[in-house]
Amino acid sequence: MANILVTGGAGFIGSHTCVELLASGHEVIIVDNFSNSKPEALKRIKKISGKDVKFYETDILDLDGLNKIFDENRIDAVIHFAGLKAVGESVQKPVEYYHNNITGTLMLIQAMRAHDCKKIVFSSSATVYGVDNPVPYVETMPTHTATNPYGYTKVMIEQILRDVAVSDPEWSIVLLRYFNPIGSHKSGLLGEDPNGIPNNLFPYIQQVAIGKREYLGVFGNDYDTPDGTGVRDYIHVMDLASGHLCAVDYVLGHKGVEAVNLGTGKGSSVLDVLHAFEKACGKKLAYKIMPRRAGDIAWCYANTDKAKKLFGWEAKYGIDEMCTDGWNFIQKNPNGL
Ligand code: NAD
Ligand code: WQD
Repeated sequence: MANILVTGGAGFIGSHTCVELLASGHEVIIVDNFSNSKPEALKRIKKISGKDVKFYETDILDLDGLNKIFDENRIDAVIHFAGLKAVGESVQKPVEYYHNNITGTLMLIQAMRAHDCKKIVFSSSATVYGVDNPVPYVETMPTHTATNPYGYTKVMIEQILRDVAVSDPEWSIVLLRYFNPIGSHKSGLLGEDPNGIPNNLFPYIQQVAIGKREYLGVFGNDYDTPDGTGVRDYIHVMDLASGHLCAVDYVLGHKGVEAVNLGTGKGSSVLDVLHAFEKACGKKLAYKIMPRRAGDIAWCYANTDKAKKLFGWEAKYGIDEMCTDGWNFIQKNPNGL
């Protein structure tokens, strides 16, 4: 069992992954600055796991702060979630996004290198496939056409990590390209907790279901898809968490760099998700067709062969379980964590 530093461990995907790491016997050290999360998430991780988690309220831009964490702990590998992730906001605040995500990663790499910790799993995104590649997305496709500054931070950080691996063959790096993570831990104690009006489909539907918002705006019904609405590869956050466990085991035992898709390989449309959520919550949910959202594409789903081959990992849950668990969470936490 290993000591894993989890940056951004109080966030949505990080908190679920910490629960899985603890359940499998790893020691977890979390670093987060709570810029998009709350201390309550740490309490919930402890409640679910029954285990103690070491925590540092540190900004990853603070190199001295990071070095202190590595001085005080023997860290075997890092899972790097910490980053800003709102696509629209990144268009308004590109400098803040590039600084936080890219400089933050450079600081982390420097602290790791100084402490001879050279194993990292990075939160990348399907957004790196951009607009020119045909679906399903395969890891070997070119990744140079992101559509917004957030997406470019992922493209650039992937490149930085590849360059690091070339410069020093001791590094072991997995770039996990997540598709659309939704759902919640079965207990209803952890889940996605966005600030303000949700940008993403699933938290928006959750808020319509609990009566916080009147209706879902469906961004376009004239795409070249079966029902005209956008198709995405939604993946249960607990499947994503178990994928991280596999990736950590992989970096502990290998060297070099690998990009790996984490998706289900199946696409669901906006209306598919809405109807699955209606089934989960047992009521009709109002929606209105709106204009397309700038930057959206019609189709996005993964080829999942590599994760299967490299990790022996496959997503277990379907859209119905994602909605059941998402409904459970929002009922128990109508105002978030
Ligand atoms: P999140 O915002 O819930 O979690 C990110 C965490 O990082 C938050 O707790 C935030 O406080 C922390 N953080 C941000 N900047 C920091 C800094 N400078 N120092 C310390 N902590 C900092 O987001 P999430 O959905 O859990 O996403 C986790 C990672 O996965 C992100 O890198 C995101 O870009 C990536 N990702 C997310 C999705 C998605 O749809 N949720 C999809 C693909 C990739
Ligand atoms: C899904 C579908 C919308 C909201 C984003 C990022 C991506 C990745 C995952 C981090 C689309 C439609 C949405 C609404 C709608 N994040 N929609 N009404 O855009 O696939 O991906 O999150 O890496 O980089 O871009 O996810 O949930 O915003 O949208 O009709 O109110 O739902 O048009 O077809 P997206 P999403």
